[in-house]
Amino acid sequence: MNAPVSTELSDYAEKLIRGRHATRAFRPQAVPEDTLRAIFSLAGAAPSNSNAQPWRVEVTSGARHERLAHALQAAHAEQRTSVDFPYSEGMYAPVHQERRTAFGTGLYQALGIAPDDHAARAAYDARSLRFYGAPHAAFLFVTGDGGARLAADVGAYMQTLLLAMTAYGVDSCPQGLLSFYGDTIRAELGVDEGKLLVGVSFGYADASAPVNRVTAERAALETTTAFHG
Ligand SMILES: Cc1cc2nc3c(=O)[nH]c(=O)nc-3n(C[C@H](O)[C@H](O)[C@H](O)COP(=O)(O)O)c2cc1C
Repeated sequence: MNAPVSTELSDYAEKLIRGRHATRAFRPQAVPEDTLRAIFSLAGAAPSNSNAQPWRVEVTSGARHERLAHALQAAHAEQRTSVDFPYSEGMYAPVHQERRTAFGTGLYQALGIAPDDHAARAAYDARSLRFYGAPHAAFLFVTGDGGARLAADVGAYMQTLLLAMTAYGVDSCPQGLLSFYGDTIRAELGVDEGKLLVGVSFGYADASAPVNRVTAERAALETTTAFHG
């Protein structure tokens, strides 16, 4: 016999998981200290291969956060990028590119940026390095050899963190862009261990910003998932 489904829990999971969206305009209001601790404590319940928990998490707020935003702007202006995990457009399959294009079209439309306005896009990238105005960021480093299996564990941590934030009423945006500035972030935060996978900007959404109304469609279940049996 199948275990009974808890409608209460599944309804809650539907709300929690589908209720999370990437936020790209924040209010300056800080998240209270006890809420921060509750969120990051809950995120630590993420699963990992043989429970190695290979993440190292650096959270910024206040003056240190502001200093980091300035350092990132300077690094961007001087084109001082450094990546711990190599990136290339070629890693995407054609179907990924189609989804990326569809998403990008909606995003730039909401921002009022024309598709071929590369200068406006570059300016938007530079502004993104100020965490979209968020008062906090979390930087997720992969420790150990930083290989794919350990990075996958940190990916699981990231999603657990995003859902924990949603549950506590905190909005977020994972920003791969921040991972192009690993050396700057390490230097500013005095971190000497791990490879930077992603940064997560977080705080409270500016509900009036049109960019926060962008929705990202998902592929139909059958196109990504097969049931064997
Ligand atoms: C690893 C990762 C990196 C991302 N990097 C960026 C980024 O640099 N800038 C950005 O605006 N959004 C970024 N996103 C957010 C995605 O664009 C977003 O999750 C996706 O379009 C689905 O939309 P949703 O999160 O609102 O459901 C990133 C998401 C992930 C998981």
